[in-house]
Amino acid sequence: MKAKYKIGFLGMGTVAQGVWKHLAQNYELMSRKLGADYEITKVCVRDASKPREVSIPPEILTENPLDVVLNPEIDIVCELMGGVETAFGLVKKALESGKIVVSANKAMLCEKGGEIFEIAAKNERAEIFFEASVGGGIPIIKAVNEGLVANRFSSIYGILNGTCNYILTRMERENASYESILKDAKRLGYVEADESLDIDGIDTAHKAAVLAYMAHGRWVPLKDMIISGIRNVSLEDMVWAKESGYRIKLVASIKADLASKKMSVGVYPALLPLTDVVANVNEVYNAVAIDGDLVGRTVYIGRGAGQNATASAVIADISDAFESLNSKPIRQTSATTATNVSMMELKEINNSFFLRLCVKDEIGILAKVASILANHKISIELLEQKRHQNKDEAWIILTTHQTNELCISEACKDLENADFVLNKPFILRIFGD
Ligand code: NAP
Ligand code: HSE
Repeated sequence: MKAKYKIGFLGMGTVAQGVWKHLAQNYELMSRKLGADYEITKVCVRDASKPREVSIPPEILTENPLDVVLNPEIDIVCELMGGVETAFGLVKKALESGKIVVSANKAMLCEKGGEIFEIAAKNERAEIFFEASVGGGIPIIKAVNEGLVANRFSSIYGILNGTCNYILTRMERENASYESILKDAKRLGYVEADESLDIDGIDTAHKAAVLAYMAHGRWVPLKDMIISGIRNVSLEDMVWAKESGYRIKLVASIKADLASKKMSVGVYPALLPLTDVVANVNEVYNAVAIDGDLVGRTVYIGRGAGQNATASAVIADISDAFESLNSKPIRQTSATTATNVSMMELKEINNSFFLRLCVKDEIGILAKVASILANHKISIELLEQKRHQNKDEAWIILTTHQTNELCISEACKDLENADFVLNKPFILRIFGD
């Protein structure tokens, strides 16, 4: 006889309604594939009177999250409400009550992952699964944790935010501003409740923290990452990139020096060569390229946001939860190879850069820019001057040879303080150099 498990939901928004639809509408198929019967016993929302896409029996709706996390009948809590502190408090209670938690909440994992794993480890029955927290529908957590378990990872990079990739793709195709496209991304259910998390690179950084933990066993706080978003990427930068054989993507990059056991984590708009498969992953799709020391490079592509893709990953976690409840030993979804890695200093992180400056159009300016860069031991590879709409101003676009993050950040400070530079210097890291 098949077991019957009880599931509670914290949140019934975009993602949870997708999970509800597939669990409810395809019950026969799902229970067969997941290996157990199930019942959704309680659903907690902020406002129970709000109209929803799915019809939830009123007797299981509640506005009190304790009806879910402290409910002795419930085996699995799906935390799909988002946010950090409230969600963490509830996840903690659920784990302490011996429940299995499934969560898509990368912000909570990034901030509280260490504590969550500790709490889960203390309680024999408790577990946390979080496939949907990174890469939407791509089973990237399973890939790193299981399929690639034999490897050490020198580089993981890629596109981890569906909203930003959707915006950059359409900006390039349609010559449109990001604000106008953001509306469509919201309608499609891609955008975080706080849109700046997407646009400013924070959501990507949360996901990079989860991946870095899975790969290297260390939680990297946001303050130890280089983070910038897509707000200042201009249509002109995109044209320059295309003419020069690149495409601009918001990239997360986790680099590790396996010999010295040091790593760096960064999120920034970058120039990817058009020959790189990641550069050709567009719209809401995410892509993660992983270099393992045994396997070499593997690349994972799929929808990175949206209701159905994310529901697919949440249901995969529910399936693992069922397996765990069925007492089949399954691999704990946590870093299995903590490596005591430390963080690289800025001077140890090498890159080449694209730099865009708006300057006064006066004699000798190019020499002054070159001199500031030379003071920081930065060598220029290419340099162009372009007309500005104001005739007394000009754009300078240049690329550098390999330098390091400390030198470029010091040089940018000096440039910003120079009276002939009229904008905050805008940089893009160049991949593939
Ligand atoms: P959403 O549409 O804003 O839904 C959030 C749900 O949580 C709503 O039902 C809301 O209730 C409920 N809620 C929020 N705060 C609550 C509180 N304090 N008490 C009770 N209920 C509360 O969010 P979503 O897009 O589904 O995202 C959910 C999670 O999945 C987030 O962590 C997000 O980062 C993550 N995620 C989202 C996607 C995506 O494509 N959207 C993809 C991967 C991961 P009301 O409906 O009553 O307001
Ligand atoms: N806002 C996120 C994104 C949702 O656009 O990628 C998926 O995590």
